[in-house]
Amino acid sequence: MFNELPLLPADPILGLSASYKADPNPLKVDLGVGVYKTEAGLTPVLAAVSQAEAQLLTEQTSKSYTSPAGIDGANFASQQLAFGTGHRVLIEQRVATVQTPGGCGALRLAAELIKKSRPDARIWVSTPTWANHIPLLGNAGLELIEYPYYDFAQHAIDFDAMHSALSHARAGDLVLLHACCHNPSGADLNREQWQSIAELAHQKGFTPFIDMAYQGFGEGIEQDAFGVRTLAEQLPELVLATSYSKNLGLYRERAGSLSVVSQSASQAQAVQSQVLSIARGLYSMPPAHGAAIVDRVYHDDTLNALWLEELTAMRQRIQQLRQDLVAALAQESERDFSFIQREQGMFSFLGLSSGQVQRLKQEFSVYMTDNSRINIAGISASNLPYLARAISKVL
Ligand code: LMR
Repeated sequence: MFNELPLLPADPILGLSASYKADPNPLKVDLGVGVYKTEAGLTPVLAAVSQAEAQLLTEQTSKSYTSPAGIDGANFASQQLAFGTGHRVLIEQRVATVQTPGGCGALRLAAELIKKSRPDARIWVSTPTWANHIPLLGNAGLELIEYPYYDFAQHAIDFDAMHSALSHARAGDLVLLHACCHNPSGADLNREQWQSIAELAHQKGFTPFIDMAYQGFGEGIEQDAFGVRTLAEQLPELVLATSYSKNLGLYRERAGSLSVVSQSASQAQAVQSQVLSIARGLYSMPPAHGAAIVDRVYHDDTLNALWLEELTAMRQRIQQLRQDLVAALAQESERDFSFIQREQGMFSFLGLSSGQVQRLKQEFSVYMTDNSRINIAGISASNLPYLARAISKVL
């Protein structure tokens, strides 16, 4: 039955962790998979999360099923965090939200919904985009079209090229946008550019499909949702995938949500029923533990305040690391890396060739994806001098 199946290569991002673990070099540096790390290189359980878990453990009386849409309080939290209290789409009850197994589950569920609703829909994705967007959306059978986004020579968004490509999108197409902390480039749309995309979507009739996996890692919870809120305000429909992997550090708990904004409250109910039916045929219902933590942390004032403090600390540490990296590279090399300070979130491209990336791995045990994307959070005061020297050596 399975004899014909060939062995596949490791995942381009997740596979890096295994190579890093197997490397005996004590100086090794892991800038691969996008997980937050402390100065000591640990990915901590947030204190707000530990406390919520302790409460949940003492209080729980059953492991019976939740509901197909997940935990109501977590879905409410997802809506409030993304759209903001009092947003018109919430007042008008035009949003269908379901809890999903992580942001990936939301993306795939959305892709299946789009396929069911419009089998000929095309999804425009940025060049580059997160590597896993391609299988998550493409494997649902949707056609993907690339639009130019990051200009490697300028180390910045080429907005004119993006806008001009998207002017060829047609009604019924979807355009995948990163709400903040663009993965892999770290280069985000500014407020005027978001507004310009809203106008283009209105004019051409395409639907924004926003992936918000890093809310709070850019400028803050509210600021990072600017694009989502602006587009939802001005357009009849919108698809949104969110994740708690990074901002609550719930990676392995697979906590996320899919929200679909529809033209009317009754249409939102129809969409909700369709999404639930698709989910039932894929995985039946989402895992509860991570979402119960989301619910608790969002609704308990003390835990909420603690979480926001911890989130601010993670964001500020990454911003500081960006400055430190630019300063350390300026000491070691003539090349201008100051663009890293203008970017946001966990990732930036160093702008190295894949040969240089291979040398960093083989000669210096410094791990990053082949396109020279680095996870800034993997840097620490202790590995920075070694890292900057290693980068300068391969330039
Ligand atoms: C990343 O981009 O490194 C993270 O989002 C982890 C993943 O699943 O790829």
